Amino acid sequence: MKILGIETSCDDTCIAIINAQKKNGFCFDILSDIVSSQIEIHKKWGGVWPTLAKRAHQQNLVPVLEQSLKKAGKIKVLQSKSEIKKSKLRNLEKILKREPELLRDFVGFISKFKKPKIDILAVTTGPGLEPCLWTGVNFARALSFIWNIPLVAVNHIEAHIYANLINHSQFIFPAICLVVSGGHTQLILMKDYGKYKILGETRDDAAGECLDKIARILGLEYPGGPIIAKLAERFKKEKSKTRINITLPRPMIFSKNYDFSFSGLKTAVLYDFKKRSVHTQRKKEYIYQMCFEAQQAVIDVLIKKTIKATKNYKAKAIILGGGVSANTQLQKQITKKVKQEIPGCKIIFPLPQYCTDNAVMTAIAGFFHKKDKKSWQEVKAEADLRLD
Ligand code: KG4
Ligand code: ZN
Repeated sequence: MKILGIETSCDDTCIAIINAQKKNGFCFDILSDIVSSQIEIHKKWGGVWPTLAKRAHQQNLVPVLEQSLKKAGKIKVLQSKSEIKKSKLRNLEKILKREPELLRDFVGFISKFKKPKIDILAVTTGPGLEPCLWTGVNFARALSFIWNIPLVAVNHIEAHIYANLINHSQFIFPAICLVVSGGHTQLILMKDYGKYKILGETRDDAAGECLDKIARILGLEYPGGPIIAKLAERFKKEKSKTRINITLPRPMIFSKNYDFSFSGLKTAVLYDFKKRSVHTQRKKEYIYQMCFEAQQAVIDVLIKKTIKATKNYKAKAIILGGGVSANTQLQKQITKKVKQEIPGCKIIFPLPQYCTDNAVMTAIAGFFHKKDKKSWQEVKAEADLRLD
């Protein structure tokens, strides 16, 4: 079954095509996987600006679709440019009425290329940034209408979990999933494919958002997670003799529930930064050590709660997902802890490029919901969509 996935929940415009099969577990061949990153646009703001992100999605979607179809060998140029029927065009204008630039590109694309052999379109409908989600959803609706291909709505958190099926043929249950990204931090009990219970989540900032904000305080680039990880490694390697006295909190680490809170950690970094002299603030020793301390504080909380949930629910596996799960220290330290404390438990991570947002995971999640096909009129964006 060929599935085309569309993902625009945040700042990456992603379209992928996969061939999905169920044989000895699951097998997902990636025929194409195109990501148009907006990092350059959002860099100067230190975070994602939703209206700018939406505009970039509007500009990127058609070129990304064309590239994705080309890469998968699913595109055929029409012999002669086809005219779209007036009634169809009127409908398209309605579907894309909030996306005039996208409508123009869309009409140009449709009149040039043949309908590809795709069985299902899968689109992220939430959670995420509402304006960005709507652009992807409207685009998917327009494609579904014009190509007459059924549409499946995908939950972005579930897609982050399913990203693990690119490099693992199946899951074992019950599993504890830790989804940590720029927009989300959730601990989820997964009883089977499609069966979830959210055990806890962040009450304020997501873990990745916290790292992004800390990077901004320290004058580092966006996104913060990767650069903080890199400088924290440098601190470890250089083993500076002049260790600065920095103590950061581990918010809610001993709380009885599975919730998280990361905004206090960011504030603690800000206070520490402000109390230093301008000279220290600019010193690489201070920046490197702060990166190390802040990253470790985040890791400590994530590991403590994940291990606690795994033990309490007698889970047989831990599944990580989301941008922050690409962090090598998080991966190393949680693996070590699991070996020591719950040796029989399996721990899995997605491949690094599939930790962050991509449409392969969207297409895979679409495969699991192939029976929930909808007509294009029924699919809507839901910024606060929940998994359970
Ligand atoms: O999953 P994702 O691409 O987007 C959302 O759904 O939010 O995650 C992006 C987040 C950013 O906050 C980024 O700083 C963080 O993931 N991130 C990392 C690493 N790579 C990306 N955090 C820590 N270590 C990394 N290596
Ligand atoms: Zn994400």
